[in-house]
Amino acid sequence: MSAVGGIARDETVATVATLLCDRAGLRGDRALHSRLVRCIAAAAEAAGRDVEDYVASLPGDAGALQQLVDRVTVQESSFFRDAAQFDILAEEVLPSLEAGVIWSAACANGQEPWTLAMVLDEQGRTDCSVLATDISVAALARAAEGRYAERELRGLSPQRRDRYFRKSGTHYEIDPSLRRLVTFGRHNLVARDLPLEASRCRVVFCRNVLIYLTDEEIIRVLDRLAQALMPAGLLFLGYSESLWRLPSRFSLRRIRDTFVYEAGGSAPPVAAPRPASPPAPAIPSRAPDRAAPPVTSERLLEEAGTALVEGDLAAAVVAFRKAAYQHPEDATIALHLAFALDAVGDGAAAKPWFRRALEGIEADPAAHVLDGWSPAEVRRLVQRKLSPPAGGS
Ligand SMILES: C[S@@+](CC[C@H](N)C(=O)[O-])C[C@H]1O[C@@H](n2cnc3c(N)ncnc32)[C@H](O)[C@@H]1O
Repeated sequence: MSAVGGIARDETVATVATLLCDRAGLRGDRALHSRLVRCIAAAAEAAGRDVEDYVASLPGDAGALQQLVDRVTVQESSFFRDAAQFDILAEEVLPSLEAGVIWSAACANGQEPWTLAMVLDEQGRTDCSVLATDISVAALARAAEGRYAERELRGLSPQRRDRYFRKSGTHYEIDPSLRRLVTFGRHNLVARDLPLEASRCRVVFCRNVLIYLTDEEIIRVLDRLAQALMPAGLLFLGYSESLWRLPSRFSLRRIRDTFVYEAGGSAPPVAAPRPASPPAPAIPSRAPDRAAPPVTSERLLEEAGTALVEGDLAAAVVAFRKAAYQHPEDATIALHLAFALDAVGDGAAAKPWFRRALEGIEADPAAHVLDGWSPAEVRRLVQRKLSPPAGGS
């Protein structure tokens, strides 16, 4: 009899990565690889099987595959995450929005759809509802349960906590008054069909999920979201994802400091803000190596820009980092590296670069470090990243 659990061989991990890419669109990068090694070992052990047997059974075992998807996907979320987007929804979008559905298309453990329900309730929009979907059935079950430990309530102001939650033992439960506003259902964004309820969709929140998908899937998902949205419907992406360029079915709208995408646009693809040209690169004083000429920071920034446009954030991080080491004083490069690190979920590594960008902006308050943004706006944006507001209101 073979041993239970164990560490999967590289080929085995690659087989599972391919399966997850086919079924869930997940991008097989290095971050996924190390996560997969851990998840496969844990799942095989939980199933009481040797890893190789376990993996061999996955393609024909929908339940086991779903459980692995539940383990592998990242459910990080919070109430009023990127609060400015909810301010805009409440103050700029809802007042003229017709009755319909707001879709939280990767709702994780539910903080996003419940936040949307709170905003609808606060604005008295009883004619709108929230559709909450996710590929993970475990996450959906938690989302629908609407029961959170105190530490999971971050982002909520005390007023909202008191108004929308009831204390139940050590946990907080969503107040029944909000429950009628939200419908939950499993939906894989990579699937060809849209959820039925999305047919009256006016706004989609599809935040912090596209970063996990392959470029091909991102394009197809965006195409379907454009189909789902009523004309002039709006798409909110994750804060850092909103620097991406999207296919021409969306046009970019800037509302206050936030980028939102409008469906039905016929504009050409919106270019992600490219780093402004940096100062002339510092060429090393030693004689250049003929076989391998030094890569200039312009070239690195071009590489990073292309990687961003293609959604390859990991490659963008590498290129921005190299450029930042060549020009540690350049606030624009520091800012782009910070955004890219933030987008791959490495907030801790992003912070020193946000600080460096801020120092550069403060040293030269007139410097334009991000195309389309005034220095004061960039300063506010960076300050928000360095110390996000504690409450959601
Ligand atoms: C980091 S959470 C984002 C939660 C929330 N949108 C937010 O921004 O706080 C990513 C979620 O995407 C879900 N997900 C990953 N791949 C998906 C797919 N192909 N279809 C639908 N959801 C997916 C994961 O299960 C996870 O719950």
